[in-house]
Amino acid sequence: MEYGFQKAKEAEQKMGRTVVDCPFRTRYHIQPPVGWLNDPNGLCQFKGLYHAYFQYSPLNVHGGGGYWGHCVSSDLLRWEYKEPVLTADIPEDRNGVYSGSALVEDGRMYIFYTGNVKLPGDHDYIDEGRISTQILTESEDGQSMSPKIPLLRMEDYPKYITQHIRDPKVWKENGIYYMVLGARVRAWDEQGIRKDKGAALIYRSDDKLHWELDKELIPDGWFGYMWECPDIFYMDREKILSFCPQGLASSEGKYQNIYQSGYSILTEKEDPEDTFREWDMGFDFYAPQTFEDNDGRRIIIGWAGLPDTENCHRNLSVQNGWQHCLSLPAELTFRNGKIYRYPVRELENLQWNNKKIDTSGIFNWSNCTVRLEITEIGGKKENIRIGTDENYLLIHIEGNKTELSFLDDENNPAKCGGGREKREGRTDDKTDKVLILIDSSIVEVYVNDGEIVFTTRIYLEPEERNLKISGEGDADLKVIEK
Ligand code: FRU
Repeated sequence: MEYGFQKAKEAEQKMGRTVVDCPFRTRYHIQPPVGWLNDPNGLCQFKGLYHAYFQYSPLNVHGGGGYWGHCVSSDLLRWEYKEPVLTADIPEDRNGVYSGSALVEDGRMYIFYTGNVKLPGDHDYIDEGRISTQILTESEDGQSMSPKIPLLRMEDYPKYITQHIRDPKVWKENGIYYMVLGARVRAWDEQGIRKDKGAALIYRSDDKLHWELDKELIPDGWFGYMWECPDIFYMDREKILSFCPQGLASSEGKYQNIYQSGYSILTEKEDPEDTFREWDMGFDFYAPQTFEDNDGRRIIIGWAGLPDTENCHRNLSVQNGWQHCLSLPAELTFRNGKIYRYPVRELENLQWNNKKIDTSGIFNWSNCTVRLEITEIGGKKENIRIGTDENYLLIHIEGNKTELSFLDDENNPAKCGGGREKREGRTDDKTDKVLILIDSSIVEVYVNDGEIVFTTRIYLEPEERNLKISGEGDADLKVIEK
């Protein structure tokens, strides 16, 4: 595949109209100008603006990579799209400029990412055929990047690591730079059968150029075969590892998606598995990244999508030449031993208008972004239906359980879910409060101030965009009209 910035530009111009006119375009979520988007990358606040980069495939709506897309914002909600900043153009990244992070220091932005190479031929791309290089590039404006410098190559990693090692997240602590990488470690079970382990490696450096291995986070037990997109940060005094383990078996109310994303509190004695909590209980959330802004807020943005979902559900925007978006930026706070995730306060500063809705009434939101808050639920039954009698998502709350279901009475999945079925999650105590945000084709549900969150895509035609609430809680409905 040949990439190049010119090709991206041509793809954006060619598809422009169908994408722009697509009824599923969102207003406040980062989405690809054309084609496919996956992980958020290089999130930071730099020279007065928030910068968000993303894995971007303008040339193919089904992925394939090749670029870092770029957008900027002053309020984390209204994004302006710039041209892509990175493309595959050196031997070390010729098959992909994979995920990475930004470090802002002394008025410069330092971008660390993984260059991916897949050698032609018959390879498994685990033990052979793949080259993963950690690369540095710098910028003074967040847009034009300096020549790329390879930092860590295959021969620099420990021998027990397979060729899957990527997604550098870099931070500075007590004058030293640290880089955490997601990895797949070669391992065998008791019968001698190959059973690789997901792990994270931490490197350290005094100058951002020379890196040495500092620490390995390899679980004693087994918690997935690969960890993607690791991130390490502090909340209060706890050291948090956010990561995406692949290969966990799902059970009721747990690990319901094909791959997981969540966080653990790192301690000397425990494996990350022991304290692991999922970031999201919905259908569409993966590969999140956090950053600290100038106010000291820890903000998280995730990909509102997942890899390898072709066999379970679809995104109906594909017919208009694009798919996927990022989640709404949310602030993290640490309370009661766990992390709460709640939309950034800038959301409240948007021009919301109050709307009346009585408990049996139906509200049509075809031209609106919706903010629905229900309080005083007290563990009682509450139903929120998004869509029509025939085509809808039902959010059902009862006790400490919240359920999102696209299934009708006969268990047939609704058209608007593109094949999505049912997800559930539980809060520690009974559910008292829920905040539901609907931005065209994405619904985000924050339960009990963000103790658990559900992110899901939904594909309703404008005329099908109804909202019906039944239950005893106090409903407060606000909208932004077009
Ligand atoms: C996660 C991921 C990362 C990788 C990127 C490539 O979704 O697989 O591990 O860097 O996507 O686009």
